[in-house]
Amino acid sequence: MLHALIMAGGSGTRFWPLSRQRLPKQFLKLHGERSLIQQAHDRIAGLVGEERLLILTNQVQVPKTREQLPELPSGAVIGEPCGRDTAPCIALGAALIAKSDPDANMVVLAADHLIEPPERFHDAIETANKFVDDDPQTLVTFGIPPTFPSTGYGYLQRDEPLASGDINVFQLKSFHEKPDAETAKSFVDSGTYYWNSGIFCWRASTILSEIRRCAPEIGDGIDRIVAAWDSDECEKVFAAEFEALPKISIDYAVMEKAPKVAMVEVPFQWDDVGSWGALERVNEINDEGNVVLGRHVGLDTSGCIIVGDEDHVVSTIGVRDLIIVQTPDGTLVADKAHEQDVKRLLEQLKERG
Ligand code: GDD
Ligand code: MG
Repeated sequence: MLHALIMAGGSGTRFWPLSRQRLPKQFLKLHGERSLIQQAHDRIAGLVGEERLLILTNQVQVPKTREQLPELPSGAVIGEPCGRDTAPCIALGAALIAKSDPDANMVVLAADHLIEPPERFHDAIETANKFVDDDPQTLVTFGIPPTFPSTGYGYLQRDEPLASGDINVFQLKSFHEKPDAETAKSFVDSGTYYWNSGIFCWRASTILSEIRRCAPEIGDGIDRIVAAWDSDECEKVFAAEFEALPKISIDYAVMEKAPKVAMVEVPFQWDDVGSWGALERVNEINDEGNVVLGRHVGLDTSGCIIVGDEDHVVSTIGVRDLIIVQTPDGTLVADKAHEQDVKRLLEQLKERG
């Protein structure tokens, strides 16, 4: 059976002031009427069913996650006592799934991506799932043809084709997490590298053995947590053991070292909506040439990204290429060319209290 794990523990620092610790990126409506996590849920629930869906997030974010997804059974949302990046998150998800269904396959998804259309996403997941059924030792990644030499993504180097047709599958030659700028450029120029989408499909038991092999301390800690899962000691053991795990992503911990990896070439549009500038890619630009979420009245204003809410009008006169974000407890006005500096700004804000 196919299960799904949605990872939802990140914080989205490039979306200040809308995205704060208590309202990270996945809860924002950056495109359409549903938030990113609601869209992630809707996209996969039809394929696996609500009862085979697990969301792992930080414990602070559990109430908001439940509020946004009331249709989920209560055990489906699990709050980690602290953030340990994606390797411990995936290890815990895989161990809980394998405990209830030892031969389960699982798809791992991020809570904060935009993917269209859902039908092609389903086709890609089904292709990967069949692949894992035929060869349960293989870890499947999903590759996106790169459009620029980003240093914020992992790169997948394709090897021989394993299947071709409506959806192509390749053997993977190598996995490079977040290269430096020069290396990223050489990857993109070579034409044989893809961006890693951060979506994976594998047998739960296989990823667990890979984690045990590459990062034994994660495997041991997760074993102790799962052994205590239904006991009175659960909360205490979870807090102590999880905190003691190394903070590392699955990409560095396992994927760069895994011996048998395949890549599905994605047949869908994908955007990880990494910063304010992404809103121009995923939303319609209005007749005046701006992207507006909320209410805006402007004279001679164009090329702007304007975010507010329904109770508050943002007004502008004679401005170009700005990002303007108005929230009850913070306002951002930035030149669009500097959108990546929001993370730096946030560090300054933290330092100054
Ligand atoms: N539960 C939980 N706990 N979830 C987490 C944690 C954690 O400690 N840390 C991150 N996540 C979630 C995030 O919310 C996001 O949905 C997903 O895991 C990926 O984490 P990011 O922190 O956004 O990773 P990244 O963007 O730097 O890199 C990954 O994604 C890229 C594509 O967007 C890598 O897999 C790259 O290789 C990939 O290109
Ligand atoms: Mg990300």
